[in-house]
Amino acid sequence: MNNIKNVEQSTLKTFKTHRPSEYFSDKENDNSFNIHDRKVEHLYRFGLTLPPEYFNGKTLIDLGAGTGHHTVSLARWGAKCTLVEMNDDALMVAKNVFSEFSEIEDHNFINSSLYDIDIEKYREKFDIAHSRGVLTHVADKRGAFEILASLAKPGGYVIYGDRNTYGGIQEMLQRLAVYKYAGNDEQQIVEASEKLFSDDIDRSVLSVPRSREAVIYDRWVIRQQDDPSVSDVIDFFEANNLVYVNSWPRIDFLGRGVSTFTDPNNNKALKQGAFLVENLWMILNNGESENIQSLEGMGIGEYKNILGTVANMLRNLNADTEIDLTSLQQDFKKMKKLSIDAFGKPILITRLDTFFNEVESFIESINDKKTLSEIRQELDQYEILFKGYAGVRHVDYIAYKKGL
Ligand SMILES: C[S@@+](CC[C@H](N)C(=O)[O-])C[C@H]1O[C@@H](n2cnc3c(N)ncnc32)[C@H](O)[C@@H]1O
Repeated sequence: MNNIKNVEQSTLKTFKTHRPSEYFSDKENDNSFNIHDRKVEHLYRFGLTLPPEYFNGKTLIDLGAGTGHHTVSLARWGAKCTLVEMNDDALMVAKNVFSEFSEIEDHNFINSSLYDIDIEKYREKFDIAHSRGVLTHVADKRGAFEILASLAKPGGYVIYGDRNTYGGIQEMLQRLAVYKYAGNDEQQIVEASEKLFSDDIDRSVLSVPRSREAVIYDRWVIRQQDDPSVSDVIDFFEANNLVYVNSWPRIDFLGRGVSTFTDPNNNKALKQGAFLVENLWMILNNGESENIQSLEGMGIGEYKNILGTVANMLRNLNADTEIDLTSLQQDFKKMKKLSIDAFGKPILITRLDTFFNEVESFIESINDKKTLSEIRQELDQYEILFKGYAGVRHVDYIAYKKGL
């Protein structure tokens, strides 16, 4: 218990200095609220496929709601929200955000650690139990998840979001360098982060209008940052009577859900498929078309053409169809040959190779105690490491509570 409280105090101190969750401004004529609100709608409607219309009249509890900048969109869709947040400053901002963008009377604001809420009072009382970007910062994730899951009614949903172990590897390598040079000194952490990773900070503030300090405190000053893998999350679901429904980014591998009767409880296959995706998340720079290309090899174009011709020849086949069997046989032979290049050595292997080389040289430079400027010069030469998205930094999951 002591460790839980120690971590809580340390997290609270960091986030009291710079609050991490202020995603839009309430200044007049500022469009940032609308932009953020649309992103939230996009996540639920197209990502998690729980559309805004579902929320109308539903009860929702949000553990670690922060400044309510995310929760307020759910409230605008008609959810009656209970916001639990241990940082009183953040909760104060949340009340202002709600009075500005939603009706405040329908909602509850509880200033408490998630560990200290009256669980018996709230057990199975909510249609939706929600927590986003919080459990990664607590000492006992499994226990915290149990609390979250216990709040949802049978037949209700748990919506849970956090960073991912593999998607977050690049950020952890950044921490490795930052701590090596700055130790525990917050000012030095800010300086080292700016010296080494200013591009990454630029990118973040462009996509979410937070201060540079808020980004640095959220990524590198915060001490407790223990990100769960997909496998961990599926284990949490299993232990708490929950069935995985969906996620964003998706973890369903190609080939899952091959019939209407695909078993949603096939967690073993889900975990195996997700590990492939987590490798793509680890090296993500630019987005999803890059991922698709990563899985394909050099010979894919010709392979696609022949397969297309053959499939078209065979579709709608009937007794009168004339088919040249010799050329059909030749086509399958050609595909057999081409498939080795098309799928046997996908570009993923080359990208992983570049990534691992860069990681190796990065670690070596830190170990050799090169100066920050020298390391920065090297980083500027990298192709994959710390470029673009630098991994996948957040994953949202939705699960269904069994028992109805
Ligand atoms: C990264 S912010 C996320 C805020 C919000 N959920 C969002 O998605 O924007 C993490 C929040 O969790 C809160 N938090 C961390 N540990 C907590 C705990 N044990 N109990 C309650 N809140 C906690 C922090 O104070 C902070 O406001």
